[in-house]
Amino acid sequence: MKELIDRLESEKILSREEFKTLFTCADEYLFERARFTAQKIYGKSIYMRGLIEFTNYCKNDCLYCGLRAGNNKADRYRLSKEQILDCCKTGHSLGFRTFVLQGGEDFYYTDDLLAEIVSEIRAGYPDCAITLSIGERGYDSYERLRKAGADRYLLRHETANDEHYASLHPAVMSPVNRKQCLYNLKELGYQIGCGFMVGSPNQTFDHLVDDLLFIKELKPHMVGIGPFIPHSDTPFRDKPSGDLNLTLNLLAILRLMQPNLLLPATTALGTLDPSGRELGVLAGANVVMPNLSPVNVRKKYLLYDNKICTGDEAAECVACMSMRIKNTGYEIVVARGDWIG
Ligand code: 5AD
Ligand code: FES
Repeated sequence: MKELIDRLESEKILSREEFKTLFTCADEYLFERARFTAQKIYGKSIYMRGLIEFTNYCKNDCLYCGLRAGNNKADRYRLSKEQILDCCKTGHSLGFRTFVLQGGEDFYYTDDLLAEIVSEIRAGYPDCAITLSIGERGYDSYERLRKAGADRYLLRHETANDEHYASLHPAVMSPVNRKQCLYNLKELGYQIGCGFMVGSPNQTFDHLVDDLLFIKELKPHMVGIGPFIPHSDTPFRDKPSGDLNLTLNLLAILRLMQPNLLLPATTALGTLDPSGRELGVLAGANVVMPNLSPVNVRKKYLLYDNKICTGDEAAECVACMSMRIKNTGYEIVVARGDWIG
């Protein structure tokens, strides 16, 4: 194992079979090298981003997601521009210098409205990074929002394998378009993040290698990965959750493959295991995204069952997160936390 890990660290690539061997590796050395690699670039800093879940309406029907249009049990909400700006205000006073506006694919938020929201955040918080995570839109929309002041965009590719993609999404959703969106965003000068779920239904180790190879080619600035967790009002309600150790190994492999990645220890990881996010940091993650959404909507933004942190005020989330990170021997840093290239 040691030889494989050292070679991944030095050459940043392995053969398909070698990658698969590392997926099940139980050698602490993998995490040790991943931590060392992260620290060479980012030190012991863990960047904190403020997540604002501003709409849980979604036109899509992804089979895994609790926000899917077909879930008529979801209690839908939208935040107004004022409510979003209020979240930023709270966040800024708590030290956040990155706001992540995330939502379902909800075209109530037209390009006009979004551009207005982004420009007002940009004007009010010139020292902050603005990240959007609002799904697939056309090149022109992305361009408009970039010009309005958005710096970063998160769009998980979900799976790089087309057949696997088709088993997770309705036929109207195209894996080709999804990847094209990522290339468009990159071309427009966004710092981009792709990503995938670990252990989503029908996923094989070969699919995971496809994901790694796609990431190698796209060269995103961020990669968000977390375990699949079933949601009881979706067709995948009876499917098993993704595996903790496999998720941690993938975080470490991504860190070694692309040392300067921004890699979040996700909420899904913290939901799967009470120490999940801390373990993620110890496997090479360097970003956490506490929730800044108003408490009265938190329980409504449920992508999966048993999501953590749905009852806490933003300040409590920050305090809890800072303590957790400190306990792992790292420190929360409130800064824009740009990608170091
Ligand atoms: N379990 C884990 N992650 C999920 N996501 C959506 N549904 C689930 C689920 N059931 C992830 C998707 C999406 C991101 C916002 O959340 O990867 O891109
Ligand atoms: Fe909204 Fe998948 S259910 S994008």
